[in-house]
Amino acid sequence: MPRISLTSHAQQLLKARLTAGDIAIDATVGNGHDTAFLLSQVQATGQVYGFDIQAAAITAVQAKLGAPPNLHLIAANHADIASFIPAAQHGNIRACMFNLGYLPGGDKTVITQTPSTLTALTAASQLLAIRGLLSIIVYPGHPGGDEEAHAVQAWAEQLPREQFTLSQITSQTASASAPRLLMIEKIAG
Ligand SMILES: C[S@@+](CC[C@H](N)C(=O)[O-])C[C@H]1O[C@@H](n2cnc3c(N)ncnc32)[C@H](O)[C@@H]1O
Repeated sequence: MPRISLTSHAQQLLKARLTAGDIAIDATVGNGHDTAFLLSQVQATGQVYGFDIQAAAITAVQAKLGAPPNLHLIAANHADIASFIPAAQHGNIRACMFNLGYLPGGDKTVITQTPSTLTALTAASQLLAIRGLLSIIVYPGHPGGDEEAHAVQAWAEQLPREQFTLSQITSQTASASAPRLLMIEKIAG
């Protein structure tokens, strides 16, 4: 089997589920790779909401993607995600992506923080549609990342099994400090 990155793996799993007209969220826009992917899947009839705490990342991605009308880029903490999504779309989100840690090539001191990550994940799980997917890539190998990865794992494992399924994909090296992809599907409301 060819080796693929966890980010590509997450995108492949979401691709099988997303169709034109869907609504999706990128909770950690960064350089905009996942945002661009989500836009390509939901197409012009869908909507993508993208969040990053760094305004400079949002501005750069806005310039890169040309600000189509169905892309809503928001410079805000993803802990507040629900307040930016119209109430009519709550429960209708088909996919939500989190790629935790710091912005590659950017300011490495701005990293996702466990308390706001957990708040955002809880909000995202509530915003999901039935059959909606939540992808989370965690990085236990960097300072703060280990604690966050453990907390995210514990959060995912305490989700009610009658409402959510959980699967995990580890990276090729499979050591305790290797990045991991958690994939959560909402199966009931
Ligand atoms: C690993 S990068 C994301 C990479 C991105 N998915 C891409 O395709 O390039 C993590 C991003 O999360 C952002 N971030 C950190 N804390 C955040 C928070 N509380 N709310 C929203 N974004 C946050 C960082 O600014 C950084 O850009």
